[in-house]
Amino acid sequence: MKKRILTFVAFATVLAALTTSCCSKTDNEQPVVSNADATISTIMQRKSVRSYKDSTIAPEVMETLLRAAVAAPSGMDVRPWHIVVMTDKSKYDELFAGNFNMEKFKQSSAVVIFCADTTVTRPPRENPNAPAVTSPNPIWRDDMGACTENFLLAAEACGLGAVWTACYPFHDRMDPVAAYLQLPGNIVPYSIVPVGYPAGDEQPKDKWDESRIHFDKF
Ligand SMILES: Cc1cc2nc3c(=O)[nH]c(=O)nc-3n(C[C@H](O)[C@H](O)[C@H](O)COP(=O)(O)O)c2cc1C
Repeated sequence: MKKRILTFVAFATVLAALTTSCCSKTDNEQPVVSNADATISTIMQRKSVRSYKDSTIAPEVMETLLRAAVAAPSGMDVRPWHIVVMTDKSKYDELFAGNFNMEKFKQSSAVVIFCADTTVTRPPRENPNAPAVTSPNPIWRDDMGACTENFLLAAEACGLGAVWTACYPFHDRMDPVAAYLQLPGNIVPYSIVPVGYPAGDEQPKDKWDESRIHFDKF
């Protein structure tokens, strides 16, 4: 009996090591990413998906995507994002009024609008004990890009398809959305992501180009 338990423990340990470890180490302790790495695989499999099945996304799945989105890094940890999730297709026309870019996405199960607070409210840098002041946040776009990409990757991991569509800085795209959502002046619609279960067979592109990689100097 004891031998059986020991065998089981050894087996479970090996299995756990195999499933949790995504990297192996070379002799000089540099990590080598294996193809089995789920994170890398999700990143490499992500592609823009522009046609969707007529189905809904369960609220808990959507929450998973949103939690992944807001786990993004953010300069000074400001977290400028406000995210609007739309699932009522009858409202899409109004949301996208005059925005020809969104015509083809009207069958998506949800449209997620990533909005940014372009300001930051905090004590002045030179005097952290002074009262908070509101000033422009010069790096909100970077945070929003990371947030949008996290959402796309989570969608891929959950078997969904999504596409990043530009909103900011095009006024014909931003204005109808800002008006429909009644966004305050400091909140900007940055990106619009239609999402749903893929209806087509979009494939990821191989973008590896060694000539774009530079070591030590350009
Ligand atoms: C900032 C940004 C804006 C984009 N805007 C649009 C858009 O307005 N409409 C669209 O169909 N795709 C848009 N895309 C998706 C790109 O066309 C797509 O990422 C690119 O063709 C590469 O294909 P892949 O995403 O399948 O790798 C955008 C992507 C990014 C990153």
